[in-house]
Amino acid sequence: MLKWVVAAGLVLALPAVASAQDAANGKKLFTKCAPCHAVGPGAKNKVGPELNGILDRAAASVEGFAYSDALKKSGLKWDDANLHKWLENPKALVPGTKMLFPGVKDEVERDDIIAYIESFNADGTNK
Ligand code: HEC
Repeated sequence: MLKWVVAAGLVLALPAVASAQDAANGKKLFTKCAPCHAVGPGAKNKVGPELNGILDRAAASVEGFAYSDALKKSGLKWDDANLHKWLENPKALVPGTKMLFPGVKDEVERDDIIAYIESFNADGTNK
């Protein structure tokens, strides 16, 4: 019985630990994005829009940011799958975008970056 409880506890604890590590690594990898993007408390638009609350938000919906027509007309929603495609190769997903970024080819790195930006609420506080 005790063994079972310990094993169940481990299984439940693992995903949480993994995601915290992903976000920590994603924070380091976000240095690739930081010249153009801010996320977290008080994030403001820079060369690119601030990224708070990005998950499941419609593309091109940060007020006051001058998006390209291409992204405005894309009709995309930033779910996990679209964020992966975007970060792998923005121009392939949205030809004509003004995000001049070659992309992150490593899927695990993309996962970590997404885990990091997803760890913030729309108001910049931590989830
Ligand atoms: C050289 C500057 C630059 C870099 C580097 C950059 N971006 Fe962007 N990003 C932009 C611009 C500009 C836009 C707006 C694109 C448009 O309007 O077509 C954008 C748009 C986005 C969007 C869509 C936002 C929305 O509101 O629809 C996401 C998500 C995003 N970037 C994430 C990232 C991440 C994550 C990284 C790092 C891996 C990154 N970007 C690197 C400039 C950059």
